[in-house]
Amino acid sequence: MAVKSVKDIDLTNKKVLIRVDFNVPVIDGKITDATRITASIPTIDYILKQKGTTVILMSHLGRPKGGEKKPEFSLSIVANKLSEILGKKVIMASDCIGDAVEKLVKESKPGDIILLENVRYYKEEEGNDPEFAKKLAKLGDAYINDAFGTAHRAHASTEGVAKYLPSAAGLLIEKEVKFLEPILKNPKKPFVAVIGGAKVSSKIAVLESLLKTCDAMVIGGGMSYTFLKAMGKKIGKSLLEEDYIDTAKKFIKAAADKKVEIIFPLDRVCAKEFSENAEPIYIENNEIPDELTGMDIGPKSIEAIKKCLATAQTIVWNGPMGVFEFKNFQKGTIAVAEMVANSKAITVIGGGDSVSAINEFGYADKVSHVSTGGGASLEYLEGKPLPGIVALEK
Ligand code: 3PG
Repeated sequence: MAVKSVKDIDLTNKKVLIRVDFNVPVIDGKITDATRITASIPTIDYILKQKGTTVILMSHLGRPKGGEKKPEFSLSIVANKLSEILGKKVIMASDCIGDAVEKLVKESKPGDIILLENVRYYKEEEGNDPEFAKKLAKLGDAYINDAFGTAHRAHASTEGVAKYLPSAAGLLIEKEVKFLEPILKNPKKPFVAVIGGAKVSSKIAVLESLLKTCDAMVIGGGMSYTFLKAMGKKIGKSLLEEDYIDTAKKFIKAAADKKVEIIFPLDRVCAKEFSENAEPIYIENNEIPDELTGMDIGPKSIEAIKKCLATAQTIVWNGPMGVFEFKNFQKGTIAVAEMVANSKAITVIGGGDSVSAINEFGYADKVSHVSTGGGASLEYLEGKPLPGIVALEK
């Protein structure tokens, strides 16, 4: 079913309540990555260009326990950053519901931008409490959801509030869907999925879903060791999910039945201990000695991936190839980031770690789309309906 767009509704003279995902990383009181804030700007700009509008933004930040109002989860730090990016004052509200906020909104003027305080300061947010959703809805004349990163949560501000106001998707949600939907339905072929990350358990659903549309799949990262174990290889002390060996075997069979080629690593960079300064030890095959732990893929694997990606028209990359946080073990992940960045295919990157990797290595502007969703993009690619988007269907 089609989702209503912000462009489908008349916003003239309206106070527009926008759910954004400003859940940004904060270290020592500083925002370390403002991607999610900049990603919300096109929708904010679009709405401000409509005659007589006031923008009221709401978001969560972090996971305050049981609705505790801890200052380290205050969105005021985001208000400052947003104001810096927009070159415009952003009014920080002291709360997200209640008399004081209602008064602030009532007295606001067209062109004003208000940021409500963290919606997770109330446990009713995650409980999707209808009374809480109604209190949020009271603040606006229309509701726009642009929080793709939180669209997999059925919370009051992402799902509940849509029941009480004319609602539509913002430009970021539209962009995310524009790039992610074809991957599940009709990707430009050949389509190659490159999936890494630590665990089979957290990626098996996305592997099974992508198997339906991909022509080839690269499996790297920590989870590849469970697959190799399932194929009878020696994995030393590498990460293993014993309970998932059967799942891995079934997956390999399903891929063979569908004639989808799976590219597993051919060689390894290992270490005696799992640590940043461990000495890299090259193993030219998949027979890792008992005392070693696999940390990255090796040059033969990189070449095999390069060959596979050379003719691809669509590439999805989710999850690193090795322990890319450690300098000695990031060559495989850097190589994949480079291949994706230099490819002429439609390239989509999702999932927190591969997004951090592409940002860290400076290739973010060379790919077609970097998703702002971690869990949300994964669930989307698993084929699960996202409640925050379903709520906006016409
Ligand atoms: C995210 O960072 O993935 C989203 O903002 C959702 O946050 P949550 O996992 O705390 O619900």
